[in-house]
Amino acid sequence: MNATIQTIQRRRSIRAYKPDQIDQGTLDLILEAGSYAPSAMNQQSWHFTVIRNGAILEKLEASCKTVFMESNSEALRDIARRKDFSVFYSAPVLVIITGDTAALAPQYDCTLAMQNMMLAAASLDIGSCWMHSVMMFYETEKGKSIFRDLGVVFPEGHKPYAAAVFGYNALSLPEPEPRKSGKVTILD
Ligand SMILES: Cc1cc2nc3c(=O)[nH]c(=O)nc-3n(C[C@H](O)[C@H](O)[C@H](O)COP(=O)(O)O)c2cc1C
Repeated sequence: MNATIQTIQRRRSIRAYKPDQIDQGTLDLILEAGSYAPSAMNQQSWHFTVIRNGAILEKLEASCKTVFMESNSEALRDIARRKDFSVFYSAPVLVIITGDTAALAPQYDCTLAMQNMMLAAASLDIGSCWMHSVMMFYETEKGKSIFRDLGVVFPEGHKPYAAAVFGYNALSLPEPEPRKSGKVTILD
């Protein structure tokens, strides 16, 4: 099997990280892989914000928890109440991909860039996990102001469309979930 297919099949969402920081050269490769994603009309509408400041990550984690506890969604409140609730799983790096809201298809541009990054990371034995909480958090007024207060300022006209944590897996690689059947239709 070729290396790309192997990496695609080997990538898992990692939910326990070692404290070790990703070295700059490796992080640069991951970010560069993101920039090679396709984008609508080649607008490359993305911007990559990398947070590896532990104090900012801790404050964001605590604020996410508070916002979820105050959410209208019972499911979200239930999740946030769990004793083992963790947003970032102690990962050393959070990458937020914001997109220009005026671009043609920023949500797809940014999502494809993040998938490139997660696959590049897997190929380099770096774990990752998509962080939907970041987008949900940003959608709240409180979330927006907390980002600003923490000095996490996105380019003008941008909002987060994709976010993921990265770092070294602290546990053994989980087995993939079984693939659901009946997901392909081929018309000859
Ligand atoms: C849109 C989206 C949102 C997700 N949000 C989260 C999240 O907030 N926290 C988390 O731990 N995993 C999150 N995940 C990861 C999924 O739970 C994971 O991809 C799925 O269970 C399949 O596992 P695998 O990635 O190991 O194949 C998200 C994935 C997607 C695509």
